Amino acid sequence: MGLFKKSSATTSTVTMIPAAKPLIGDDERKAVDRVLRSGMLAQGPEVKAFEEEFSHHVEGRHCIAVNSGTSALHLGFLAAGIKAGDEVIVPSFSFAATANSVALAGGTPIFADIDPKTFNMDPAHVESLITPRTKAIMPVHLYGHIAAMDRFEEICKKHNLLLIEDSAQAHLATLNGRPTGAWGTVASFSFYPTKNMTAGEGGMVTTDSTDIARMIRLLRNQGQEVIYQNEVVGFNNRMTDIHAAIGRVQLRKLPGWTATRQKNAAYLTEHLKGVVTPYVAPNTTHAFHQYTIRIEGEDAAKRDRFMALIRERGVGCGVYYPTPIHRLPTFKLDLDLPETEKVIKECVSIPVHPSLSKHDLEKIVTVVNDVAAGL
Ligand SMILES: Cc1ncc(COP(=O)(O)O)c(C=O)c1O
Repeated sequence: MGLFKKSSATTSTVTMIPAAKPLIGDDERKAVDRVLRSGMLAQGPEVKAFEEEFSHHVEGRHCIAVNSGTSALHLGFLAAGIKAGDEVIVPSFSFAATANSVALAGGTPIFADIDPKTFNMDPAHVESLITPRTKAIMPVHLYGHIAAMDRFEEICKKHNLLLIEDSAQAHLATLNGRPTGAWGTVASFSFYPTKNMTAGEGGMVTTDSTDIARMIRLLRNQGQEVIYQNEVVGFNNRMTDIHAAIGRVQLRKLPGWTATRQKNAAYLTEHLKGVVTPYVAPNTTHAFHQYTIRIEGEDAAKRDRFMALIRERGVGCGVYYPTPIHRLPTFKLDLDLPETEKVIKECVSIPVHPSLSKHDLEKIVTVVNDVAAGL
């Protein structure tokens, strides 16, 4: 008890280690300045170069840059032919955009439970949800841990379904050496500021289908390949050259940052006690978008107390995500997803980002271990 009294007495002077921190440097500023000086701000040569450079990270697939990860998912579903009456199996334990994009395309999201070890969709449960209306399966590589893509690939082949990836959180994560974005017929990435790399805002669709790539290019730009010759009803979901210029710089830094995230995660896993540390499945590389621990006991109040106490001592944290998507007002479904419901009460993400110092890491360990021991 004395421990916590002491910590609250120091609250006013405590500096907070943020849960996430976008890293923007002089290179990004120079790149933006270069575009601003060129006077060509809208989608142009920077976007094209960004797409080509991103393609090297997804086994040379077609890459189409758009204005957000949500647009990437939405256009991906439309171009893949998802329409009213089609069911797409997704996890409920994800960000709302995962399911919203299915609904925006006219389809119906069907919510599957997760494997609590990886936080990702459980292939066995997914298979049990397949109906004649199922058109696609979309795993999310949550927190940067690649989903069981080899299993999902098998299931999709067996049932003749499309495999689509929500890779918003998992740039450069791999399974058996194959990266996210190179498994599904379509995959989408996000460049929101807290992601492992940013473009300010933005997204990328990757696909191995020339036809789908062409359709996404049309849909993002008012349905035109040739100006004023609108072929389909499209959107303005273009990425600007300003955003692409930031993204190109960040993409060059991404492998180094990912290695630092992995090193930080390894340190935390070695030293944390009294909490469940993240599992890394065999033959995978984890991109550690989040370092998510669990406070066992299926007791959200206990987990919230843990969070309040570590914040009080200067360790930022967050719950991603406090409500499963199927229970949000948008879907309001009464489903039985026991692992999702359990994890939602236990999970908390603590800092793992590449700007943590050795001192920050030591402090995180001390604070988490002290608080966990006193819960
Ligand atoms: C799993 C997941 N899917 C989709 C998105 C949507 O990406 P964006 O915020 O770039 O639209 C995000 C990011 O917030 C996400 O975490």
